[in-house]
Amino acid sequence: MDWNADLYTEKHAFVFQYGAGLIDLLAPKTGESILDLGCGSGELTQQIADRGAAVVGLDASEPMIAKARQQFPALDFRLGDATHFELPERFDAVFSNAVLHWVTDFEAAIRQIKKHLKPGGRFVAEFGGKDNVKQITDEVTRQLQKRGYPLPVSWWYFPSVGSYTSALEKHGFRVNVAQHYDRDTLLNDPERGIIDWVEQFGGNFFPGVDPADQASILEDTQNALKPTLFREGRWYADYKRLRVVASVEGV
Ligand code: BEZ
Repeated sequence: MDWNADLYTEKHAFVFQYGAGLIDLLAPKTGESILDLGCGSGELTQQIADRGAAVVGLDASEPMIAKARQQFPALDFRLGDATHFELPERFDAVFSNAVLHWVTDFEAAIRQIKKHLKPGGRFVAEFGGKDNVKQITDEVTRQLQKRGYPLPVSWWYFPSVGSYTSALEKHGFRVNVAQHYDRDTLLNDPERGIIDWVEQFGGNFFPGVDPADQASILEDTQNALKPTLFREGRWYADYKRLRVVASVEGV
């Protein structure tokens, strides 16, 4: 996935605005060390730092890390992938908002998260859960199919509570909180809400698709979703969130 960091911060600010509630669950304290895994453009990393914690922001996207460094030059941002990162530090907590659904090798990510926690450390995360954005993805798929394009293989990981908490337990975490909830998410642009969302996040639907077809797929997808995802003049995405807090043994 190639990220356009400017488009992301301009049109998809809801990603980090909703994440602010997750910071309350993280409850960072002065003196704690925290890893913000998949920090994107750094807004939540800054909010964690504002609560007095020493925070490292890690992201696999060079444009995002560049944007984060430009916006928050006093913070420590590093480039790294959730499945392979190797940092010298061990953290009191690993925090991750709206990222882990991009990581299909979820077991590798869980392994790396655990490895980077101190004994007694905690993992606090929210990402897309089972059936996340299903209305949108089903409709794009239908529109591709109608035009004779092959069906894309899913590149997202939207697990149920059962499967994700089992994976955490298998890797030695104790799951303290797990929640799967609906959170229809208000999109920025009242004219092009769904089109913008698919353009920003759904690029993997379109390799090999003729640009004129892509434009009509986006239009037709948005029109088809109007009865369910357009309310009182605003577009919503049908987000389903999975939220977890888990801890490792120790004092
Ligand atoms: C999400 O936050 O649920 C999400 C964002 C972009 C693509 C897919 C899911």
